[in-house]
Amino acid sequence: MVRINTCVFISGKGTNLNKLILNSNTYNFPIKIRLVVSNNKNAEGLRLAKKFSIPYIIYSSNQTLSENKTLIELKKYNINLILLAGYMKILTKKFIRSFRKPILNIHPSLLPKYKGLNTFEKVLKKKEKKTGCTVHFVTEKLDDGKIILKKFFYIDKEDNILTLKKKTQALEYIAFSEAIFRLIR
Ligand code: GRF
Repeated sequence: MVRINTCVFISGKGTNLNKLILNSNTYNFPIKIRLVVSNNKNAEGLRLAKKFSIPYIIYSSNQTLSENKTLIELKKYNINLILLAGYMKILTKKFIRSFRKPILNIHPSLLPKYKGLNTFEKVLKKKEKKTGCTVHFVTEKLDDGKIILKKFFYIDKEDNILTLKKKTQALEYIAFSEAIFRLIR
């Protein structure tokens, strides 16, 4: 089976990255993670890149320079898919246009509701009955591209920011891989 060469962008813990690496090591998963990019040199997720011997790039404070360097590496590794897995920086229009291949993002709300940051606070404030996560294509507008899939759960009275985050992330681990299957198969 030919696997799509993939680059994962992270900023923090990398629990989504972990799940993606584990899945990509199973025999019928359609991607191979060839490169990791982090805009945060202290991102815990970088430990995973090291553990699984995946080359990684760490951004400097100069985003333009870092993105240009990344574009070169993306070519070098023949990357055909980018996954934003908890990447907390907005990609520049120039970067998105230059890459010209699919970029997917996982967002912790049921888009188009609650774009941007602090989704769990917003969901609780609006007394929503349900919430979840969305996998979508990345475009030049924040959290706005075509939706590939959403997964949801019903909110309990006892739920708070922490429990919503935990429940949402549990869904994210399934949703991202399912979206990849839908995209590639
Ligand atoms: C995820 O919940 C994602 O939705 C959000 O940031 C979180 C990253 O978690 N944008 P991790 O780094 O994958 O653990």
